[in-house]
Amino acid sequence: MKIAIIIGTRPEIIKTSPIIRECKRRNVPYFILHTNQHYSENLDKIFFEELELPKPKYNLGVGSGTHAQQTGKILIGAERVLAREKPDVVLVEGDTNTVLGGALAATKLHIKVGHIEAGLRSYDRKMPEEINRVLVDHCSDFLFAPTKKGRFILLGEGIPKKKIFITGNTIVDAIYQNLELARKRAKILGNLNLEKEKYFLVTAHRQENVDVRGRLEGIMKGLDLVYQNFHLSLIYPIHPRTQRMIKEYGIKIPKGLEIINPVSFFDFLQLEANARLVLTDSGGVQEETCVLKVPCVTLRDNTERPETIEVGSNILVGTNPRKILNGVKKMINKRKEWSNPFGNGKTSETILKIILEK
Ligand code: UD1
Ligand code: UDP
Repeated sequence: MKIAIIIGTRPEIIKTSPIIRECKRRNVPYFILHTNQHYSENLDKIFFEELELPKPKYNLGVGSGTHAQQTGKILIGAERVLAREKPDVVLVEGDTNTVLGGALAATKLHIKVGHIEAGLRSYDRKMPEEINRVLVDHCSDFLFAPTKKGRFILLGEGIPKKKIFITGNTIVDAIYQNLELARKRAKILGNLNLEKEKYFLVTAHRQENVDVRGRLEGIMKGLDLVYQNFHLSLIYPIHPRTQRMIKEYGIKIPKGLEIINPVSFFDFLQLEANARLVLTDSGGVQEETCVLKVPCVTLRDNTERPETIEVGSNILVGTNPRKILNGVKKMINKRKEWSNPFGNGKTSETILKIILEK
């Protein structure tokens, strides 16, 4: 049995780190193929170092580009490596172009594909991630759904029952494995002069939000309203895509919004765990806040993580400034009594067990 783990972006590096650790623990032969979709040090190298991950055996050096350019390069590069290495299973996690390119290259070579985070749907085909999710689920052999909702969705799309496994999400493993280390090692609160629950944390980077001027402006106005109302600073580790679009549109940064460079996972966990509330359009952050018991206001019109809404940790507000403010007012004093629907932190163990037993 040989496993190929294909990764390319920040969330994939973080979320597959428990799978990589589990392969090492069990002495399962594996290798990492990094597409390098993300390449800036603070979206890439920082996580390999902090999470003590082995250097990828292959790095495709794909970088940025249009969807077709990026996916095409990943497909061609992954095919070359997979044809040479002939792994038994390729593992991909999530919904990025790396996940699509990697899964497609593997399945055309008749290599089995395991999709971690299968069965998530926003039902919004304008999102590149939604197209990727659907296509990858439909060419996968092992569909690792985080919750029973995913399984239900996949069955509804005609995927055979025997391919679907409810496993939880590896993000819970990643949090449990790193939270204590983050508490001990991260210095970010002191460095930024922040006190527990005396600030908001913000992230926004989704194409449908930040590449659309009106929506990006709406988010900025909404953040301004939040500051005018609560007088708590808003810490925003900014994704390079968003930084580029703010510059391109000449958008003014509202008072109270403290823009910083993207931070390491330990720093981010510290910022998240101690925030009064988080505003985000990130998928992973919706899950993490749910697990960490921090209220979340999601700057989107839909979510493929409806479990977070159902348990009460999250609310959808879109990008309308008033709705953003009202969402914060609604969530800020939320009692943190919800339960975590994403598993017990043993997802990577479960996934490897399933693969090895097949
Ligand atoms: C990608 C994923 C998205 C995921 C996000 C995680 C797709 C379609 N999108 O979006 O689902 O939520 O990663 O963060 O796969 N850039 C840099 N340095 C980098 C990488 C990107 O400066 O290391 C800038 C470039 O200007 C680039 C832009 O960010 O054009 C977008 O990068 P890209 O990889 O296309 O998509 P993300 O927005 O990062
Ligand atoms: N994250 C991080 N540093 C940051 C911002 C986010 O380590 O400055 C982590 C966060 O903890 C989560 C992941 O990055 O695990 C989320 O990635 P992102 O929001 O880029 O992508 P998405 O989850 O939306 O695909």
